[in-house]
Amino acid sequence: MKILVTYQSKTGFTKMYAKWISEKLKSDLIDIKNIIDIDTNDYDLIIHGGWIMGGMITGLDKVRLFKPKKLIVFGVGYTPKEVVDINKIKETNKLGDTPLFYFQGGMNPKKMGFFFKMIFKMVTKEKLVYKDNTNKEDIDDLINIVKK
Ligand SMILES: Cc1cc2nc3c(=O)[nH]c(=O)nc-3n(C[C@H](O)[C@H](O)[C@H](O)COP(=O)(O)O)c2cc1C
Repeated sequence: MKILVTYQSKTGFTKMYAKWISEKLKSDLIDIKNIIDIDTNDYDLIIHGGWIMGGMITGLDKVRLFKPKKLIVFGVGYTPKEVVDINKIKETNKLGDTPLFYFQGGMNPKKMGFFFKMIFKMVTKEKLVYKDNTNKEDIDDLINIVKK
């Protein structure tokens, strides 16, 4: 089975998960902004990961345009895994039966830029300091369903 991992990442955490997943599955990996450069029909499965912004998984609309034969999605947000409402994310992003995984990312103010920093301050009470909550083992469930 030929697999493509696509990602949209602003500050690097989603890219990190995408890299880990593609390494484990020995798949191709591409930033979603370059998807136009490849023939997506070559792939039996696309795994798309996007950072979460106001509940929306970024890049999902773009990947849908290419009508993947099979799609698996992962969202990366700041919310701790224990409290995240996965069904709400599913609903917000109209994912239906598409498998969805949630991974915790982090915060990198240096790469956020003024605009995103301002919005983030408006919507959360979090202090804007560097934090990396990524965990490589979190990808195991996704890897397992692909290998099945
Ligand atoms: C404007 C803005 C909105 C965000 N909205 C959410 C959100 O709704 N839920 C969430 O869990 N995280 C939210 N985050 C946090 C990011 O998803 C998180 O920092 C993520 O790790 C960024 O991934 P990246 O490094 O791949 O860009 C938001 C961040 C910004 C800047």
